[in-house]
Amino acid sequence: MITKKFLTAIVTIVLIAAFYGCSRKYATKNAFGLKDYYSSYFKMGVAVSPQTIRGAQAALLIKEFNSITPENAMKMQSIHPRENQYNWADADTLVSFAVRNGLKVRGHTLCWHEQVPGWIFKNGTGEKADKLLVLKRLKDHINNVVGRYKGKVYAWDVVNEVIGDEEGQYLRPSLWNEICGEEFISRAFEYAHQADPDALLFYNDYNSERPEKREKIYKMLKKLVDNKVPIHGIGLQGHWSIYEPSDSELRETIKLYSSLGLQVQITELDVSIYKWEKNLRKKIPGEPDSLTRQLEKKQLEKYDRIFSVFREFNKEITSVTFWNLSDRSTWLDRYPVPGRKNFPLLFDSNLQRKKAYQRVVDFKPDLNQPVK
Ligand code: GLA
Repeated sequence: MITKKFLTAIVTIVLIAAFYGCSRKYATKNAFGLKDYYSSYFKMGVAVSPQTIRGAQAALLIKEFNSITPENAMKMQSIHPRENQYNWADADTLVSFAVRNGLKVRGHTLCWHEQVPGWIFKNGTGEKADKLLVLKRLKDHINNVVGRYKGKVYAWDVVNEVIGDEEGQYLRPSLWNEICGEEFISRAFEYAHQADPDALLFYNDYNSERPEKREKIYKMLKKLVDNKVPIHGIGLQGHWSIYEPSDSELRETIKLYSSLGLQVQITELDVSIYKWEKNLRKKIPGEPDSLTRQLEKKQLEKYDRIFSVFREFNKEITSVTFWNLSDRSTWLDRYPVPGRKNFPLLFDSNLQRKKAYQRVVDFKPDLNQPVK
């Protein structure tokens, strides 16, 4: 016979078990960061400066991400401002932080037309340097920078943004191109591969999902692949907005580039609340510069779509990196309209998760899949 005592004991046990189960689930969920939700999909990264790796920002970074990209510290202008001068301090600090905390590092960037010091392109008499000299300097630069971080930086954005934006313009006009012709592109990859044969080497660009530019990028990548140049992946910067790209543009893009046998990484993700207008320098009258409810909704929907496409391409995409940690400070507060506040990331100015964050992690991760 079931006694009252026995029943009470059973009910108590069931209640305790339920409470314990719930609190465990809650504790696990709370301890989860982006990197945990996506552990069987791709690495989750963020662009950082030496300020980001201090205090509350550092704690957030470590909780949510498992990869970093130095925002500026490894660019030629910062790390190699004069022929005989390397500034290693900031890059060293960021790399040691990553090593201490078990984070991966994406190196950024070895050859770019911006943030490049003038001396590279001048000879001893101050005139334009010739191809031989410029390529020799590029080689020395890459050898020293990649060599220093060998085994600590697993992937490099070797060449950044060489494809032209204008219709019909294949390569962007730059001193690299003017002096060396297209050859500097393949050379940069070869130098990087010689300096660290184990590093993954990427070409990185923006608007790389817009059909016209995409075709030009594809053409260049195909040439590199056909010529057996050591290139392993394409970086889609992902400076997007609540208006673009569409799901189908994104799908087509990932399919196209990965058909070349290249892995895809999203290298500089943010979702602006404004339309992408490169030449705009002043605010548009009447445009809100706050995250209104309507904009917040549009942004979370865009993030939701983007990440659901990313998950479809689990095999092709190996990393997703955000360009800055939180809305407290983003390059989009300065560009293209100086002083126009933007809110493009998943954490707000107080470092709290935004609604868009909840959407990004609102899926059933298969926790039995191996961690990538
Ligand atoms: C490009 C570069 C980045 C960064 C952004 C703007 O996308 O690749 O390094 O400078 O512009 O912040």
